[in-house]
Amino acid sequence: VRHSVRTCLLFPLLSAPSAGCVGVCGRAPFSSCSPKVCIVGAGPAGFYTAQHLIKSRQDVEVDIYERLPVPFGLVRFGVAPDHPEVKNVINTFTQTAQHSRCSFYGNVNVGTDVSVKELQQAYHAVVLSYGAEGNRRMGVPGEDLAGVHAAKDFVGWYNGLPDNRKLHPDLSCETAVILGQGNVALDVARILLSPMDMLKKTDITQPALDLLAESRIRRVLIVGRRGPMQIACTIKEVREMVNLPDTRPEMVAADFKGIAEAVKEVPRPRKRLTELLLKTALDVPTEKEQEKRSKASRVWGFRFFRSPVEVLPAPDLSRAAAIRLAVNRLEGSGEGASAVPTGEVEDVPCGLVISSIGYKSLPIDPLLPFDSRKAIVPNTMGRVQKTAGVYCSGWLKTGPTGVIGTTMNNSFDTARALLEDMDSGALDVSSAKPGSQGVTPLLEKRGVKPVEFSDWEKIDNEEIKRGVAMGKPREKLLSVDEMLHVART
Ligand SMILES: Cc1cc2nc3c(=O)[nH]c(=O)nc-3n(C[C@H](O)[C@H](O)[C@H](O)COP(=O)(O)OP(=O)(O)OC[C@H]3O[C@@H](n4cnc5c(N)ncnc54)[C@H](O)[C@@H]3O)c2cc1C
Ligand SMILES: NC(=O)c1ccc[n+]([C@@H]2O[C@H](COP(=O)([O-])OP(=O)(O)OC[C@H]3O[C@@H](n4cnc5c(N)ncnc54)[C@H](OP(=O)(O)O)[C@@H]3O)[C@@H](O)[C@H]2O)c1
Ligand SMILES: *[C@@H]1O[C@H](CO)[C@@H](O)[C@H](O)[C@H]1NC(C)=O
Repeated sequence: VRHSVRTCLLFPLLSAPSAGCVGVCGRAPFSSCSPKVCIVGAGPAGFYTAQHLIKSRQDVEVDIYERLPVPFGLVRFGVAPDHPEVKNVINTFTQTAQHSRCSFYGNVNVGTDVSVKELQQAYHAVVLSYGAEGNRRMGVPGEDLAGVHAAKDFVGWYNGLPDNRKLHPDLSCETAVILGQGNVALDVARILLSPMDMLKKTDITQPALDLLAESRIRRVLIVGRRGPMQIACTIKEVREMVNLPDTRPEMVAADFKGIAEAVKEVPRPRKRLTELLLKTALDVPTEKEQEKRSKASRVWGFRFFRSPVEVLPAPDLSRAAAIRLAVNRLEGSGEGASAVPTGEVEDVPCGLVISSIGYKSLPIDPLLPFDSRKAIVPNTMGRVQKTAGVYCSGWLKTGPTGVIGTTMNNSFDTARALLEDMDSGALDVSSAKPGSQGVTPLLEKRGVKPVEFSDWEKIDNEEIKRGVAMGKPREKLLSVDEMLHVART
């Protein structure tokens, strides 16, 4: 009710006294005096923040700006194609996007097409939730050789991220080495080794499917700098590897020395995961498992206590031919144990190297604080430090770890902080702000044409239609041009 007593400073002509400054803006009705929040990035963090804001107050209006013409961030471009159930969150996000107090502006790159300062002028609050578009680098010689890819790019490629469309990884070698043992590493290993008849029923892109069908990779090693008790992936993903048809595990028994004893001491999730690793590495297989293993044409395995030192080129220097790994020992125990090099090294021949050691957020606006060591926007409970009216959520707030549920929780926390600030007066919402009406003229002047949510629905329908023809849930459009074309016809 508070907003209805305010006077509309910017839009007196649009004011309708009975409804407290209700005007009409494009398709959606809007209250020119209501608090206006803009969100940067339409991934889980953006949508969960928007959802909480809209549900908690009847007057808040939320606009979501997104770099790509299509929404949902890593749910579309990260989550593995063979995990369709994870993508069900899209239904909730769609409900939020279709809410009368929420608008989607795709194809708008904040930092390039419009500055954060301009957004601050148009909105009472700005929430940064643009995720982690970069990746950590190994920082070793040979990292930029052909045949070496960041997992982020490889994942973007098989999931149809326009930026990674031209990756064309060379899958003609026998062995692939993945550095890092998180769930992303396991996603990549699984995609490299899955039988075609499993993949072809997913929304993996057709070019990726075609290349994978020709793949000659027979062995995938997933390399960690620490030990089995420090592995970063979760049990479900390891189980999927164990159950992958036509593969057998190949582990090094010595890596598991002392683990059977140590496992007794650890909390339950870690204990169950370690027990599965022990069983896979050391137990005598059942007869059925023995038969599977003897017939398997492909091999996967974890390698522990190894850090990348250098990617070694082929004799003609054209591409990667091997990776040199430092042999480590552990100092300390448990989650906090650290890897210390013994001085020994080991070379593993491989034609494909995938570095899966983490994503990384990047700064988008030089005027905003950015902690380049932690690669996050420095914040206190989602309030960006030294920048009143600016908030952050998702991976940009916490760093690039955590599942969608984690992202949901931290986004709700940020929304709560923002609402608290509105209620306490720490966030000034007393003067009217133009919202998108202050931004669209700037975009127009700069030749940027935003994509609305109904435009995305056209893209969505087209992708589903193309998918049906291929026996897949969808066939993604692969370029921004093609997306815009479909959105505008
Ligand atoms: C490969 C991979 C697989 C995963 N699989 C799972 C899984 O199976 N289950 C699970 O629970 N979690 C999974 N996760 C984790 C989950 O994806 C994250 O928790 C979640 O996506 C983080 O949300 P976010 O909104 O912070 O970032 P993002 O999802 O990255 O969203 C950020 C959005 O901001 C946009 N953006 C970037 N820059 C700009 C800009 N300058 N202007 C405007 N918009 C911009 C991006 O295009 C993107 O849409 C996975 C993560 C990865 C990397
Ligand atoms: N199915 C799913 O639910 C799913 C799928 C994909 C991703 N996700 C989530 O998304 C998040 C990100 O996943 P992620 O796999 O990118 O990250 P992650 O879980 O943090 O794993 C990163 C891995 O890289 C290693 N690493 C980091 N720096 C290294 C270095 N300099 N040298 C060698 N190794 C290094 C880490 O080892 P140390 O432990 O030694 O640091 C770890 O094994 C995770 O929370 C993950 O669970 C979930
Ligand atoms: C999110 O928060 C709820 C409620 O506090 C909690 O039960 C749940 O475990 C959290 N989820 C994650 C993934 O952290």
